[in-house]
Amino acid sequence: MTSASLTPAQRERILRAAISAPSKHNTQPWRFHWAGDDLDVRVDPARTLPVDDPDTRETHIACGAAAFAARLAYASLGLGTAVDPRPDAGDFRLAARVRLTDAAPEPAFAALYESLPDRRTHRAPFREAPIPSLVLEYMRDAARDEGTWLRVIERGPAYDHLLSVIREATGRESERQREERAKWVDPPDAVHRRDAVPAGSLGPLPRTPTGAVRDLAVGRDVPGRGTTVFETAPVIAVLETHGDAPTAWLTAGQALLRVLVTGTRYGVAASFANQPLEIPDLRDEVASEAKYYGTPQMVIRLGMGREVPRTPRRPVTEVLDPE
Ligand SMILES: Cc1cc2nc3c(=O)[nH]c(=O)nc-3n(C[C@H](O)[C@H](O)[C@H](O)COP(=O)(O)O)c2cc1C
Repeated sequence: MTSASLTPAQRERILRAAISAPSKHNTQPWRFHWAGDDLDVRVDPARTLPVDDPDTRETHIACGAAAFAARLAYASLGLGTAVDPRPDAGDFRLAARVRLTDAAPEPAFAALYESLPDRRTHRAPFREAPIPSLVLEYMRDAARDEGTWLRVIERGPAYDHLLSVIREATGRESERQREERAKWVDPPDAVHRRDAVPAGSLGPLPRTPTGAVRDLAVGRDVPGRGTTVFETAPVIAVLETHGDAPTAWLTAGQALLRVLVTGTRYGVAASFANQPLEIPDLRDEVASEAKYYGTPQMVIRLGMGREVPRTPRRPVTEVLDPE
């Protein structure tokens, strides 16, 4: 393909995929820029979370996920790509470039692209059906294919310990964290916004809190939310990377989306309980059990999903910088 030969419709398809990526509190902390047929993913400094995410680790995870989603859309057009993380060391905001290559797209990407619109964060109870072990294996493979490790925690002392670390993290949340979150989780102007987590996506409160289900609105009364019985023991997994630099965070984001969309194909849904990763000594505690790559990036609750609402996105025109 020669340079700048993507049609406007193809560009739109790629950008729409990219903006469907998950991001902490649905901040959508990205901007996009076309460099010929390559797509630059840039950090939007106005959409970072200085209290919850002071080093922009989770911002970079979201940008990595957006880059992976873009790759799936390129693949759906028959185009192979690679991701260059931080291609310009002098430009910290340039998180990644999705670059066209001569290689054919990975065959697996076609099915993953089809499942992309069905992925969503699932804070409701899962069905009591177990995740088939083969599907968990596919999800582990998805993490490995992107150079990360999905550590599925076996039920037993390590599982109970992780739940207790999550509960401790919830108890240690600061007022500043809650204030920051109130701007993004069920904010007062939610109906006018195309970002943030709407009340309808918070899910009900567990009648018996275990820790695995994160309440993003701790300490707030959200009308009509109610309580319900959740699944007894969800699968809990930790996504680990080698190292903890921005490039590792971008890798984590790509792997995260690959893992999630692989699960989506088979009806597996996920929510997240990342609060221990936001507190350094508790992150160390999660890391102390790490097996291979060492650095925990996401704590993931997995189970067989139901229908849950889609969160809003800002339109492509709002996130695209001029060429
Ligand atoms: C880096 C990162 C961290 C996240 N952390 C949490 C979390 O701790 N708890 C949670 O409920 N959701 C978490 N999320 C999920 C986002 O809230 C969710 O992606 C966003 O609201 C958009 O909704 P969607 O995933 O349904 O598209 C996280 C997502 C990302 C990418």
